[in-house]
Amino acid sequence: MTDRQPSPFFLTLEGIDGAGKSSHLAAVREHFEAMGRSVVMTREPGGTPLAEALRQMILHDAMDPLTEALLIFAARRDHIVNVITPALARGDVVVCDRFTDSTFAYQGFGRQFPLPVLEQLELWVQAELQPDLTLWFDLDPAVAATRLAGARVPDRFEAEQLEFFSRVRAGYARRAEQVPERFVQIDAEKEKHEIWKRIESALADAPFRSGA
Ligand code: TYD
Repeated sequence: MTDRQPSPFFLTLEGIDGAGKSSHLAAVREHFEAMGRSVVMTREPGGTPLAEALRQMILHDAMDPLTEALLIFAARRDHIVNVITPALARGDVVVCDRFTDSTFAYQGFGRQFPLPVLEQLELWVQAELQPDLTLWFDLDPAVAATRLAGARVPDRFEAEQLEFFSRVRAGYARRAEQVPERFVQIDAEKEKHEIWKRIESALADAPFRSGA
């Protein structure tokens, strides 16, 4: 007889810059650890030494939109192969700050890069891999901009104008419409404790992956 393996779970957090998703990461980790789960906290672009090196270029170096998309998916491939897939195979919970929904929202809608190309890259890089649950921190870009104002030196994305973030937000809305069973929309204008209550109930309802 073998020990029953815990069900792996792949959770992603999404939203425009300034929506406040990162401020809930520690609480999400504690939530799963309190259940006795092994948790891998990671982020995109990034999560491995190679992908973190690519992140620096993606966030700071000028490049054309196809190069940007290719580097993002190259970083994702390395991250999936070396971190995400092994963790899920062990039965861990993987909590990833951004994943492919960011690419559709930022590159596809923000930059207006062709969605069919992104769909092809997604297929090549991820095959069937998709998050089990996505917490989408949804916020009016004008509110997000006031939160970000003066916070730090902006990267290539944070430096974009309001219209860019309005398109990114519309991109998230489209993704949420396409896979409603995976997306939980969170009103990120609410107080932090109310947002946490919403997250907790989403996690309580979350279906765990069946089998490893
Ligand atoms: P972010 O995750 O917000 O980290 P930080 O809080 O440290 O700035 O920053 C990553 C940026 O990369 C963000 O502006 C969105 C962008 N991005 C894309 O454009 N496409 C992607 O596929 C991913 C994962 C991120």
